[in-house]
Amino acid sequence: MDLTGKRIMLIGGAGLVGSHIVDMLTKLPVSEIVVYDNFVRGTRQNLSAAAKSPKVSVVEASMSDRERLRQEMEGMDGVFLLASLWLGECVNNPRSAWEVNVLGTWNVVEACRDLGVQRLVYSSSASVYGNALETPMTEEHPFNNRTTYGATKIANEQMLRAIYEQHGLPYIGYRYMNIYGPRMDYRGTYVSVIMKVLDRIFSGQPPLIYGDGTQMYDFIYVEDVARANILGMQADVADEFFNIGMGTGTTIDELVDMLLELTGSDLKPDYLPQEQSFVTYRIGSVEKAEKLLGFRADTPLLDGLKKVIEWRRSQ
Ligand SMILES: NC(=O)c1ccc[n+]([C@@H]2O[C@H](COP(=O)([O-])OP(=O)(O)OC[C@H]3O[C@@H](n4cnc5c(N)ncnc54)[C@H](O)[C@@H]3O)[C@@H](O)[C@H]2O)c1
Repeated sequence: MDLTGKRIMLIGGAGLVGSHIVDMLTKLPVSEIVVYDNFVRGTRQNLSAAAKSPKVSVVEASMSDRERLRQEMEGMDGVFLLASLWLGECVNNPRSAWEVNVLGTWNVVEACRDLGVQRLVYSSSASVYGNALETPMTEEHPFNNRTTYGATKIANEQMLRAIYEQHGLPYIGYRYMNIYGPRMDYRGTYVSVIMKVLDRIFSGQPPLIYGDGTQMYDFIYVEDVARANILGMQADVADEFFNIGMGTGTTIDELVDMLLELTGSDLKPDYLPQEQSFVTYRIGSVEKAEKLLGFRADTPLLDGLKKVIEWRRSQ
């Protein structure tokens, strides 16, 4: 879709990924950018730079409020759906997980269909795969997920496929690997390992590593993810899911070493037994996104982590 003059809504646009997409959209010739967020996790501060643009407006409401959502979505050309309860919240409140993530997504999908929205870019997750059963982990990898969070993402993916089949709603879905960058949540109950390690380093305590540190993940910088979203909105391809990652693995040991080096710390990590069962290996193949969307993440982990540290120090 050509974005010139288009009206774009970001549901969950005040969060980590959404707010970076908003920043990028303000530099494009779209006519209107509406952030629809209930601020359960995102913040007004995340939008402070973008809010200076006259194109940007904010609606504080939940996607669970079906009537309000429909009213605000009237006339939108493109919708980014980023809102979701996060992994830890879904563990603690499985009912809310289904109500918000699945029913809330259905409210958005139904309104897109009824209002003739031209394109929906949906945020799924690499959690749909669970632990890797085969490598490289392509989009054909089985749904080996065992979490409620991942189950809601799988349910939504299936919902989108079905609605495409029945009504042809043009959508694509992104299965993100581990996203990091400025504006990551560092105050909530579920914060990323990067924030936990930085908190320990900044308070002069050894970083804690749960397990043996060999767990390997694919970390992708948030501005790369935002760029992938814009490309996805501009693309013509529909009814497809894509891995969005760097395509390279980093162990927790390596990640902690980088953070120690970048902060100039000589602390040594402490190893503790892994209390919960987590995914221990997840690196996505990035070929499909490159081939069909022309997307390739290009921020090296060290550069991205430097920006996170600068931002965290400024908070
Ligand atoms: N961050 C990651 O590493 C990662 C990895 C895989 C998938 N994802 C998915 O990508 C999407 C964006 O991730 P993020 O890191 O920006 O998440 P985030 O939590 O920072 O942002 C989500 C936003 O949605 C809002 N929200 C939640 N429930 C809502 C509701 N009912 N109505 C309206 N707004 C609501 C929150 O306030 C928040 O601003 C999410 O769907 C997430 O599940 C993220």
